[in-house]
Amino acid sequence: MERTSRIEGFYKLPMAERLKIVKEFGGLSDDEALALAGFGGIDPAIPDRMVENAVGSFQLPLGVATNFVINGKDYLIPMAIEEPSVVAAASNAARMARDRGGFYTSSTAPVMIGQVQVTSVKDPSRVKHMILERKQEIIDLANKQDPMLLKVGGGALDLEARVIHTLHGPNVIVHLLVDVRDAMGANAVNTMAEAVSPLIEDISGGKVRLRILSNLASHRLARARAVWSKESIGGEDVVDGVVEAYLFAEADPYRCATHNKGIMNGIDAVVIATGNDWRAIEAGAHSYASRTGSYKPLTTFEKTHEGDLVGTIELPMAMGLVGGATKVHPTARACIKLLGVKSAPELAEISVAVGLAQNFAALRALATVGIQKGHMTLHAKNIVASVGCPPELVDEVVSIIVAERKIRMDRAQEVVEELRRKKGMV
Ligand code: MEV
Repeated sequence: MERTSRIEGFYKLPMAERLKIVKEFGGLSDDEALALAGFGGIDPAIPDRMVENAVGSFQLPLGVATNFVINGKDYLIPMAIEEPSVVAAASNAARMARDRGGFYTSSTAPVMIGQVQVTSVKDPSRVKHMILERKQEIIDLANKQDPMLLKVGGGALDLEARVIHTLHGPNVIVHLLVDVRDAMGANAVNTMAEAVSPLIEDISGGKVRLRILSNLASHRLARARAVWSKESIGGEDVVDGVVEAYLFAEADPYRCATHNKGIMNGIDAVVIATGNDWRAIEAGAHSYASRTGSYKPLTTFEKTHEGDLVGTIELPMAMGLVGGATKVHPTARACIKLLGVKSAPELAEISVAVGLAQNFAALRALATVGIQKGHMTLHAKNIVASVGCPPELVDEVVSIIVAERKIRMDRAQEVVEELRRKKGMV
């Protein structure tokens, strides 16, 4: 089979057929495909090892976004999400980007920040300088904590210090910058921050309080960009509509919150499917969006000279490939195998490309037909299923109640009865 993510009519296939295609695409074993399917849930021993007081596990639907080309390579992208339309919208946006090459990405080195808070300092500027003068000693001490990380090319790299003013007077905040390679990094960074704090306390003459990583991972950024030709998205007015929708978010925090939420619909779904910490990603995203002091979109949209639409995205992405659920959760492992990613930055770049696609799809819908049209078809499917419609009538009943704009259980029930009578099924 040609390894393409462009799979015509994928959404129309029965689930088992889709799974077969995905299994072949990702070179998955039978067990890995079963883990993706998730039927029967995960072994009860797994949640019991992962959290305290476990009583079971919680499942979300797992969809696969098609059509993605990222840096010239085709990907099928697993997305764990309860919200209808998200997977379809991402796939659709990726399809429309294909004629201009899809998505192009980049990222910084996977550098996390460990914060050490020094309180009770009378002369904070002097203390800041004294700490920075001993930078190498502090970095060396940090690196003694994690020889494995050093062996794989990571480790503490640099030190920053800032003076902040709190209601209880000045603090010196030390940032230990740590390249965490393919880890999410919280454990490595927190261990290092705790280990260097007695030395920092000693140098400063102050009192160290908090020692913890910052989720505003501003040194660990992932980026993506894509061009959507005006022909592929419905013409120049659609280009203008998307740009104006973006400018609305740029100018208004109320709209911007929803704009960024739409981005996170895509990113979180990949983050969850791959067993990563979506709260960390959310915290990083929204704090990064506010880094200038006002809350801004994580994407940009512009019109090119040719009249096409270009979108970009940049945000902190503390995603890991080693450790935590990424390694112990069988579905997360199968999702990572399906993606075929070799490094945490590659995984982060794919995730933000999905975020950009998701945002484009939402803005295009909002600037044209509105968001409810797509939502309503899936909503109608759920309604129709809940009234016990025979499977062979589902599509027909859905299209009738959507066309009538009567997406209600009572109407669905009536249409089912009418069709059954008409087709001699009663
Ligand atoms: C819904 O989950 C997400 C949207 O509201 C995003 C947006 O408004 O841009 C559609």
